[in-house]
Amino acid sequence: MNKIIWSLLFYIGSVTSLLGQSSVRLRIDSVAIQNQLQRASQQIRHLSRATPADKFPQSFENGTHRFSNSSWWCSGFFPGTLLLLADATGDSELLQLGLDKLSYLEKEQFNTGTHDLGFMLYCSFGQALRLTGDSAQYLPVLEQGAASLASRFSPEVGAIRSWDHGSWEYAVIIDNMMNLELLTQVAEMSNQPNWKNLAVAHAEKTMAHHFRDDYSSYHVVDYDQRTGAVKGRYTHQGADDESAWSRGQAWGLYGFTMMFRETEDRRFLEQAVHIADYLLNHAEMPADGIPYWDFDYHNVSGDRPFYSQRKLRDVSAAAVLCSGLIELAQYVDRHAETKYMRFAEKIMKSLSAAPYLTPEGQQGGFILQHSVGALPLGSEIDVPLTYADYYFIEALVRYKKLLTGAALF
Ligand code: GLY
Repeated sequence: MNKIIWSLLFYIGSVTSLLGQSSVRLRIDSVAIQNQLQRASQQIRHLSRATPADKFPQSFENGTHRFSNSSWWCSGFFPGTLLLLADATGDSELLQLGLDKLSYLEKEQFNTGTHDLGFMLYCSFGQALRLTGDSAQYLPVLEQGAASLASRFSPEVGAIRSWDHGSWEYAVIIDNMMNLELLTQVAEMSNQPNWKNLAVAHAEKTMAHHFRDDYSSYHVVDYDQRTGAVKGRYTHQGADDESAWSRGQAWGLYGFTMMFRETEDRRFLEQAVHIADYLLNHAEMPADGIPYWDFDYHNVSGDRPFYSQRKLRDVSAAAVLCSGLIELAQYVDRHAETKYMRFAEKIMKSLSAAPYLTPEGQQGGFILQHSVGALPLGSEIDVPLTYADYYFIEALVRYKKLLTGAALF
């Protein structure tokens, strides 16, 4: 397409997105969205009642809640979900429950042993700041969290180190894209441009080395920490090193879309579009839009553990994909917008009904069921997961904003 026309379409797309005006007719009505949000608000009260004050819901397995300490990568999702629901429904009790939880999470701002501070702090304290506007209380936590995350950036490698465990020299995982929003947002709020520069460098490095020619992504890239050269590409949670682990693909799509919003760098938008098109056109994408836990699940052979479960779906990947597509749809031309919104709607409808929506009062109060944490590791197989709930609610909230013409961000 002619460059000027493309730029014009892009400009119009960006402006309408900021104003929250989707140009595509939306096919889910506000009553259906509000019903889901109300229902989720009721469901999460069960979970809240069962959750000890200093613990964070992780999952529900074999009739028992699984809780974590604040240092687990998922600790921000439960308070974040409460805050998103409070915002969408005006429920002051949920607001208080969400804010109360933050005092047990706060100490993670000093945690320099994880790259997951974006998930942990931005999905929780970031929401609290947005809702209350109390920057005196919440911004310092986000600032310290950003400093802790930035301490894991290596100028030699040009990326943030994801994991300290394992046999890799300098492991960077695709999931890490999600943590960059903490850096870009705090950079803006606190006038610390260097944090944004680190996020951009990380995204560029990931774009250069995590993707195959078809825009599927590897899970783990191991770098030489002196030179930044790639030492190898692997999986940890996927079917095998060459597979397309579904949640990883969704993290990539969401992460590059978010980085486009944060930087207006078209290379990130183009990357997100390529990932979306890879996923939406994939021959193994089920008709209801809820992916198998790995698009290459068939690579798992009969002598591997968990072989019998290889065809499980992963609702958490679907929820992340749904929310990411809703945002991505706002930045593209009308044809692509329609394609992405229709797919997001398909996922949303699937997640809003059986078998994925948890029957009321069941599964310990988790909103969705049938997610997969790490199948090859025998961990969290076909269970509810706190991040599936978070991104589903975020998707509903984003959709509601489109319906009402409110700004998405
Ligand atoms: N970020 C860890 C996971 O997606 O399982």
